[in-house]
Amino acid sequence: MLYRTFSSILTLLLASRGSYATPSNTSSQIQWGPCDPTVSNGTSVSCGFLDVPLDYHDPSVGNARLALLKVNATGERRGSVFFNPGGPGDSGVSNLGLPGLQQILQQYSGGVYDIVSWDPRGVGLTVPGELYCFDSIEDYTAHFNGTIELTGIEETGNFTDPADVQALLAQGPSLQKKYDELGQKCLNSTNGKYLKYLGTAAAVRDMVSIANVLDGPDAPINYIGISYGSLIGSWFVGMFPERVGKVVIDGILNPVGFGTQKPSAYFAAQLENSDTVYKGLITGCALSGPAGCPIASEGDGPLDIDSKFQALIKAAHEATKANASVPLTSGVLRVELFAEMYAPADWSRFLNETFPQWQQIISGEAPANGSLARRADDFVRRNPLMRRASSNNTSLSYSSHAVTCGDAIDMPGLQLEDQFKDVINTARNVSHIFGTYWPAPIYQCPYWPVRSVERYEGSFNKTLANKIIVASNVYDPITPLTAAEVIASRIGDDAVLLRLNGFGHSTIAEPSICTVNAVAAYFVNGTLPANNTLCEVEPAAFELFPGVTTADIIAHLPSFDV
Ligand SMILES: *[C@@H]1O[C@H](CO)[C@@H](O)[C@H](O)[C@H]1NC(C)=O
Ligand SMILES: *[C@@H]1O[C@H](CO)[C@@H](O)[C@H](O)[C@H]1NC(C)=O
Ligand SMILES: *[C@@H]1O[C@H](CO)[C@@H](O)[C@H](O)[C@H]1NC(C)=O
Ligand SMILES: *[C@@H]1O[C@H](CO)[C@@H](O)[C@H](O)[C@H]1NC(C)=O
Ligand SMILES: *[C@@H]1O[C@H](CO)[C@@H](O)[C@H](O)[C@H]1NC(C)=O
Ligand SMILES: *[C@@H]1O[C@H](CO)[C@@H](O)[C@H](O)[C@H]1NC(C)=O
Ligand SMILES: *[C@@H]1O[C@H](CO)[C@@H](O)[C@H](O)[C@H]1NC(C)=O
Ligand SMILES: *[C@@H]1O[C@H](CO)[C@@H](O)[C@H](O)[C@H]1NC(C)=O
Ligand SMILES: *[C@@H]1O[C@H](CO)[C@@H](O)[C@H](O)[C@H]1NC(C)=O
Ligand SMILES: *[C@@H]1O[C@H](CO)[C@@H](O)[C@H](O)[C@H]1NC(C)=O
Ligand SMILES: *[C@@H]1O[C@H](CO)[C@@H](O)[C@H](O)[C@H]1NC(C)=O
Ligand SMILES: *[C@@H]1O[C@H](CO)[C@@H](O)[C@H](O)[C@H]1NC(C)=O
Repeated sequence: MLYRTFSSILTLLLASRGSYATPSNTSSQIQWGPCDPTVSNGTSVSCGFLDVPLDYHDPSVGNARLALLKVNATGERRGSVFFNPGGPGDSGVSNLGLPGLQQILQQYSGGVYDIVSWDPRGVGLTVPGELYCFDSIEDYTAHFNGTIELTGIEETGNFTDPADVQALLAQGPSLQKKYDELGQKCLNSTNGKYLKYLGTAAAVRDMVSIANVLDGPDAPINYIGISYGSLIGSWFVGMFPERVGKVVIDGILNPVGFGTQKPSAYFAAQLENSDTVYKGLITGCALSGPAGCPIASEGDGPLDIDSKFQALIKAAHEATKANASVPLTSGVLRVELFAEMYAPADWSRFLNETFPQWQQIISGEAPANGSLARRADDFVRRNPLMRRASSNNTSLSYSSHAVTCGDAIDMPGLQLEDQFKDVINTARNVSHIFGTYWPAPIYQCPYWPVRSVERYEGSFNKTLANKIIVASNVYDPITPLTAAEVIASRIGDDAVLLRLNGFGHSTIAEPSICTVNAVAAYFVNGTLPANNTLCEVEPAAFELFPGVTTADIIAHLPSFDV
């Protein structure tokens, strides 16, 4: 998600982290102390730990120890606002330790709340921490050598070439076996015994435990959750409707679909707007023209820019057919292009710098850099759904899989080959550009060896102690507006929908004074925005390409199919 930027900093931080604030292991309280400077240098920031039951329904199992970070209110304190940055697998402590995010959240909450985050189970400094299923990146590469796990899926156009279809389907049985073996490796790893205690229901109960200590057992619980953090939010309001204080969820994962649909159907629905976001990119470049977007030629329209991308994908595909170990496959291209869809503020740089680099690598003009293992590592770290940001330099964390799959529905007997058939249909019918996105943890859930001890399946229509805000971008590549509409309509009278007429993942992908003011008025004065408010990106002069604003792009979005 957007926090790719935060996360890449985070990787460095975690790799070099030394000691941490002395943990308090009393089960009922938190001893706040200074944070380790590798986590945060902020003057109003403190760190601590809280012990909680590993299994809330079976205290005999023992405790987990949650790592916490708190940013003090700047004004007169009215309580706490909890925050989760998404993933799953992103560190609340490291993200909230960064001044940029502190500033955004202080604007949202008006400075009158302490902002508190924590590393969910399986993440960062919490115990149990990161899940390492392979001893090294080389072991990982060897395990998945020759599979789409390392290269993405090869296809062009709308996945019409029977040879491509055949090549994908042929990998089904062998790759499924590798996913089964992966599950066994994870179970067998140091943190394997904790897998069933990881998941979103546990994260919700952990947040309630922290709130009970900080604000009291009856106090309303305030929360801001982005992306996967929205799932924690919607499960929280379902599980603890009487504890709901001020809650804002943004960049919505549809919790209803998550608990009922098979992975391929759920993921296809998530991709519903992704081609439109791509159209935003090519339109912005065309509007800016050669002066502002050098990959455009004089007189190019969006379709011409699209042709350049299609040609690149095709060239990568041809090169891969000729030599399977080329550095940049068409599958890798799609995944990396998808990552760009999250962050429109990066589009101009991306087309100026990355696009020409891709052209050079694919045409063989620029050398491939690094070993297969290094490239596989890069690929996985740049895949926004694999959440490998928290991986160390030696190995890859599987915590995002552990949470996604711990929560997932049971799918006994679902064959990978059948999921591939669905993926082909998604490429043909839902997203021509991103329908074949691979790998994503959700597809591996049928072969994951455990489910969490608690999964929340609804309902989502309870009467809440307070009304909440459900926020979404109109053009979000991975959490479409329809998901926000689903949860808002389930919650009914207790939810208002706040939309930002912009591109990217969650409303914070583009600046908007309107959304910040709406959220701040809610936290400070309890005032809700009118239902279905449509905010514009502001300042209106904010440009995605030289001379081109978000509103310009939206006004010129082409109707053709890419
Ligand atoms: C806290 O942990 C320390 C070190 O592991 C141990 O010596 C001490 O008894 C523990 N205290 C409590 C209250 O559990
Ligand atoms: C805190 O300051 C130290 C020393 O300047 C620096 O090395 C470290 O990266 C900073 N930590 C963060 C989280 O920015
Ligand atoms: C945060 O606020 C509390 C309560 O006012 C205070 O005791 C504590 O020292 C503050 N922490 C920091 C790091 O400023
Ligand atoms: C990094 O991953 C390796 C491989 O699983 C693991 O043994 C090691 O403890 C991890 N290092 C850190 C600092 O977490
Ligand atoms: C991957 O497989 C190819 C042959 O299929 C082999 O040449 C190569 O050494 C293998 N790479 C790794 C890292 O195992
Ligand atoms: C994919 O199919 C659509 C029609 O649904 C078409 O407009 C588009 O050109 C096709 N894309 C490619 C790259 O062939
Ligand atoms: C489990 O781990 C042990 C010790 O690390 C190892 O000997 C064994 O081969 C592993 N089993 C599997 C299925 O990975
Ligand atoms: C295939 O590509 C790899 C990586 O660029 C290169 O090392 C190898 O020499 C190529 N093989 C052939 C037969 O061209
Ligand atoms: C991309 O290149 C154009 C033309 O040189 C320039 O105007 C624009 O500022 C560049 N974008 C970025 C982000 O540097
Ligand atoms: C709430 O949702 C459940 C299913 O999730 C449904 O059975 C029930 O009828 C709904 N209740 C109301 C009042 O809509
Ligand atoms: C807000 O509008 C949505 C439809 O977009 C609806 O589902 C929801 O119930 C409405 N909320 C309120 C408070 O009326
Ligand atoms: C809260 O309401 C007061 C009085 O109407 C107003 O001055 C203030 O700007 C509001 N604060 C926010 C954050 O909207």
